[in-house]
Amino acid sequence: MQLAKRMDTVEPYFFAKLGLRIAELKAEGKDVIRLDVGSPDLPPAPFIVDTLQKASSEENLHGYSPLGGTPDFRGAVSTYYSDRFDVNLDPKSEVVGLIGSKEGLFHLSMAYLNPNDVALVPDPGYAVYASAAKFAGAEVVTMPILENNHFLPDLDAIPEDAKRRAKLLWLNYPNNPTGATVNDTFFAELVEFAHTHQIMICHDAPYMDITFDGYKAPSLLQVPGAKEISVEFNSLSKTYNMAGWRLGMACGLESAITALHTLKTNVDSSQFQAIQAAGVAALTGDQTWFSERNTIYQERRDIVLDGLSKAGLVAHKPQAAMYVWVRIHTEVPSNEFTQAILEEIGVSVTPGSFFGDCGEGYFRISLGTPAPRIQEAMERIAAWI
Ligand SMILES: Cc1ncc(COP(=O)(O)O)c(C=O)c1O
Repeated sequence: MQLAKRMDTVEPYFFAKLGLRIAELKAEGKDVIRLDVGSPDLPPAPFIVDTLQKASSEENLHGYSPLGGTPDFRGAVSTYYSDRFDVNLDPKSEVVGLIGSKEGLFHLSMAYLNPNDVALVPDPGYAVYASAAKFAGAEVVTMPILENNHFLPDLDAIPEDAKRRAKLLWLNYPNNPTGATVNDTFFAELVEFAHTHQIMICHDAPYMDITFDGYKAPSLLQVPGAKEISVEFNSLSKTYNMAGWRLGMACGLESAITALHTLKTNVDSSQFQAIQAAGVAALTGDQTWFSERNTIYQERRDIVLDGLSKAGLVAHKPQAAMYVWVRIHTEVPSNEFTQAILEEIGVSVTPGSFFGDCGEGYFRISLGTPAPRIQEAMERIAAWI
């Protein structure tokens, strides 16, 4: 039976293939330290887990959930945005619940992109922006986000033809994979650019609450006029250590939220209500616990930076997200470099090329592993180099 043509545009996800190789190495008795995937190793706060436990014992929460998220969950998202960012969102029309933000990013592209449309995506960037656009048959035009421009795109460098044909522009700050954050003016410039060229901004922001050294990340939706041209994706995966629970949200431009909701009613049947109840507790309960968690990530970041400097490797010091983006000291392609350290010293990191052509020459270290294991990985890398 022949697959649909669009399947030619997708490959198995990098981490799926990597996981198989790591399982083989482990079966051979190798001690592999995983600093590749961005999955938090710590649990959510106990009150969130308690809420899930209690809610899952309720007899009436096991049927299908309201499509697009329970009113309570959408209300909690609105409360979170108002408390955290002073942004007002109508929970009915400006918020939709997601089964993790990844599906929302993918489905928004399905809702908007026709063949011949353009999606502007950051390079390096989270791979799903480009793969979703290609799956929809659209053309991907990359916006390099380079170290010499503080890992921000140069909006003036976007080709005229791409600006004319672009429908969606994807960005993500605090950034995966570089750990970069925005300066004070960038979001306002971006919103002006979007209005001028009538391109929807899709801001993917799951790391806004993983910050270090006192930094506080802004929401794009705080910029006047942003809500009229943008959707911001957010997720409980990283902020609340709930990656496996699959709960996220898209907020902002009403017509886009409606379109995403309509598409999703044909694709999924929402998330388990007990998980959404726990999401409500997470979003509206005590928010101070994750500053302790951020301190843990910050300590891990510093172990990484210290280890890299001992190894003679150069990295940008991130103020947010859970990654360190490291320059490779030789001309070896990043996938060969990362494969070599996996096979030879049992340290798994992500090659920069996975995030796009401009990621070549770098690798990414994730901070989702306990400090002693990170320490050991850094010692192995230094000795190997
Ligand atoms: C930039 C970015 N967007 C979205 C996601 C997906 O998050 P979720 O677990 O909400 O699907 C990730 C996960 O690593 C990410 O790094």
